Amino acid sequence: MYGQNFTINKEPVIIGIESSCDETAAAVIRGRKLLSNVIISSAAEQSKYGGVVPEIASRAHSDAVDCAVAEAVRNAGIALKDIDAVAVTYGAGLLGALLVGLSFAKSFAYSLNVPLIAVNHIRGHLAAAYLCEQTLKPPYVTLLASGGHTAVIHTKSYTSFEVLGATGDDAAGEAFDKVARILGLPYPGGPNVQRLAEEGKDVIAFPQSLVKNSAEMQFSYSGLKTAVINYCHNAEQKGEAYSRADVAASFQRAALEPLVRKTVESALKLNVKTVTAAGGVAANKYMRETLSAACAKENIKLVLPEKAFCTDNAAMIAAEGLIQYLEGNFAPLNINACAHIPLK
Ligand SMILES: Nc1ncnc2c1ncn2[C@@H]1O[C@H](COP(=O)(O)OP(=O)(O)OP(=O)(O)O)[C@@H](O)[C@H]1O
Ligand SMILES: [Mg+2]
Repeated sequence: MYGQNFTINKEPVIIGIESSCDETAAAVIRGRKLLSNVIISSAAEQSKYGGVVPEIASRAHSDAVDCAVAEAVRNAGIALKDIDAVAVTYGAGLLGALLVGLSFAKSFAYSLNVPLIAVNHIRGHLAAAYLCEQTLKPPYVTLLASGGHTAVIHTKSYTSFEVLGATGDDAAGEAFDKVARILGLPYPGGPNVQRLAEEGKDVIAFPQSLVKNSAEMQFSYSGLKTAVINYCHNAEQKGEAYSRADVAASFQRAALEPLVRKTVESALKLNVKTVTAAGGVAANKYMRETLSAACAKENIKLVLPEKAFCTDNAAMIAAEGLIQYLEGNFAPLNINACAHIPLK
């Protein structure tokens, strides 16, 4: 019967499955070693609509999930019987999209008679760092900046986290995507804003993404986004020429410089010697360069996952699955998908 006599392996082979947004992904790890990593994205289809259409994402996942899993198993050079656990994102994300990956993972775990591990997508983003630096151990401070989340997080142990500061409104990635639209750049916006920013100068005084005079560390992106909209609209209404590249460069610094600064300040305050970065915005070149320089200046070790492990992927889900596996934290087969999971 399912759920009885699970064999617990110290160096388990775990398959991760991710389908929370527009990437159908599957990856296999053995211990912390990555064996395969497959991503099938519907971003090209979504870009016709300027953003992710949930129904299109769900249908694309349905079409792709078994190919992604089969390819991940094949590329890893393992047999199905070698798999010790199936880790899957159960939230947060688009409900219909999550349900495709979760339903597949449940039947897969059941058929192999191995544990199902339900992974919080954001904890997955944080865990990507373990694959990039095999010896990484808590404590460390993470700069998390993705499409839906922005926070500075203190990971105290493998299973305990404290959110030191977070956004009170939009997320950094969301702001990049909205500014991309204002500047007429296609979805996904972040990489396109970065490219345009490289041609411009940081000369426009946009409001910073850090809330001033707040007792807690709090970020805000809605004021910055509105300032960019107003700047462009005012210039257009007056018929004045303006540099889109300067807007992109100035926005990028106002959005990211405070996050980088507060991350390093937090590590120094807590006397934590390691910083990591996570989430799609951590693929940003300006962020990577400024965070590297700030950590080097303060003699802090920086673990910066490769860009492909910052944006959504299943390797990070398998990595968080490994932590939960070693804790014996297995999910029941009737677990449901969850569109929202609070960060705290
Ligand atoms: N080079 C870049 N510069 C800035 N932003 C980027 C870059 N590359 C990706 N992004 C942004 O990262 C976001 C996607 O990241 P990610 O996949 O982590 O988000 P998500 O999964 O949609 O959100 P969440 O993880 O919070 O649920 C998008 O908003 C995208 O514009
Ligand atoms: Mg994500």
